Amino acid sequence: MRPRRTRGLPVAAGLRGLSLRARLVLFTTSTLVVVCTAMAVATVLVQRHQLVADMDARVREAVARMQGYVQYGAPDATDLGFLNEHGHRTGTVGARMADGEITAAEVVTPDGRHRALTAAQRDALAGLAVGGSPRTRTLPGLGVYRVTAVQGDGGAAVVAGLPMDGVQETLSSLVVTEAVIASVGLAGAACVCAVGIRRQLRPLGRVAATAVEVARAPLSRGEITQLTRVAAADTDSRTEAGRVGAALNHLIDRVESSLSERQRSEDRMRRFLADASHELRTPLASIAGYAELMGRGAAQVEPHVVWRRISAQSTRMTGLVEDLLLLARLDEGRPLEKAEVNLTTLVAEAVWDAQAAGGGHLWELALRLDEPATVTGDAARLHQVVANLLANARAHTPPGTTVTVAVEATDTHCVIRVRDDGPGIPPALLPSVFERFTRADASRSRVTGQGGGSGLGLAIAAAIAQAHAGRIDVESEPGRTEFAVTLPRATAPPHVPPASPAPATPATAP
Ligand SMILES: Nc1ncnc2c1ncn2[C@@H]1O[C@H](COP(=O)(O)OP(=O)(O)OP(=O)(O)O)[C@@H](O)[C@H]1O
Ligand SMILES: [Mg+2]
Repeated sequence: MRPRRTRGLPVAAGLRGLSLRARLVLFTTSTLVVVCTAMAVATVLVQRHQLVADMDARVREAVARMQGYVQYGAPDATDLGFLNEHGHRTGTVGARMADGEITAAEVVTPDGRHRALTAAQRDALAGLAVGGSPRTRTLPGLGVYRVTAVQGDGGAAVVAGLPMDGVQETLSSLVVTEAVIASVGLAGAACVCAVGIRRQLRPLGRVAATAVEVARAPLSRGEITQLTRVAAADTDSRTEAGRVGAALNHLIDRVESSLSERQRSEDRMRRFLADASHELRTPLASIAGYAELMGRGAAQVEPHVVWRRISAQSTRMTGLVEDLLLLARLDEGRPLEKAEVNLTTLVAEAVWDAQAAGGGHLWELALRLDEPATVTGDAARLHQVVANLLANARAHTPPGTTVTVAVEATDTHCVIRVRDDGPGIPPALLPSVFERFTRADASRSRVTGQGGGSGLGLAIAAAIAQAHAGRIDVESEPGRTEFAVTLPRATAPPHVPPASPAPATPATAP
């Protein structure tokens, strides 16, 4: 994926190295600064507008009074007699203007008299529009004035001006007050934000610390236990940080369980390899021993006996290697043959084979011939499952034991049951009986080639059942041991007319 470019590059580039906390404080404070400034500017503008409007009213009032002044004698374009009237406040400017030129101008001094304006001050007043709205003019040495001109009698216009220093002072003090309040307020707000944000982000910091600690743990080998978790207080799903904490804990749980599963399977594999090599070593050692005897031409050993022993050991090894190979293939998940297999026929044949092998056991078959028990699968492998169970029933029970084999079919499944009334599986062995190389008497000598197997029979049966999407269960107590192989049924049972009742008939194998 291409990395997304951040817009507004200069700012974004500046922020890139900052922590989330710093960014949040910066963002909040700058927003506050913008809002405060906007409010302050708006207040000053509104206030200024108001003050200037008041000022204009006063200027108009002053000019109206001057206009109402009655000149005695012939009209004089330089007469400023209206300034002699009472009520003009200090700083008031009065002037006469003809053709835009100031003909006379004076200012009221603090002692109530008047002083003539300088030429520069008069020039500043020149050019006023007669009858227009008041204007702002700066009179050098006197300050900023609000001035207006109206038509007087005798052709000369009357000009009045009032100093704006009051307005200016009010606005300046307003600006100063606002600046002080805003600075103090903003500094306070920034501190509160910084503290608040730091507090709110603290759980996130703890979650990050946990993540860092877990990332540092050596996960690549060995048994992984007790990885650190985010504390329960930081996994409240109502908060964002809590959700991150909970998700991290969930992730750590998953990592821990998959790592322990990996460790378990590594241990299993190691044990399996050790067991397999051990099993193979015994017959190999025995063959090597006999070969040496033969080589030495030892007189006390009959060659045909030695030959029989070597042959028995190599048969045993071949069987073991074939079992291991089959297990490896099943583990690998290689596809099995898929054909319709009639379990009734398969089980009957296997029981006949077992009976033919002898051993002094009593074999019974319980089959429902009216109900076909068909599964889809590999006939040879399924035969092996039954053969292994029957071999166990023969090998691990004394002669005279009755072995009953039944096939049942439900709508969805077929079940093969192999039951015997032998001594049962030792309780200590029962939980792990389907594991590889599990057998009751592990110390039994294989050198003689008699009796026990390698402990792979049930593991193979379970793996084959699993490869057919089925399973194998066992129940065992002295006098009753039952293995049940459950496999999914091939198709829905064909409709059987309910005319002839078909009882389950325990049949003794021929
Ligand atoms: N029907 C049974 N009655 C009593 N014990 C049994 C029975 N079936 C299995 N067991 C016990 O379970 C163990 C494991 O059986 P499994 O078939 O896996 O191995 P095995 O028979 O010893 O060797 P293998 O089948 O590889 O030749 C046996 O060694 C035996 O102790
Ligand atoms: Mg067996």
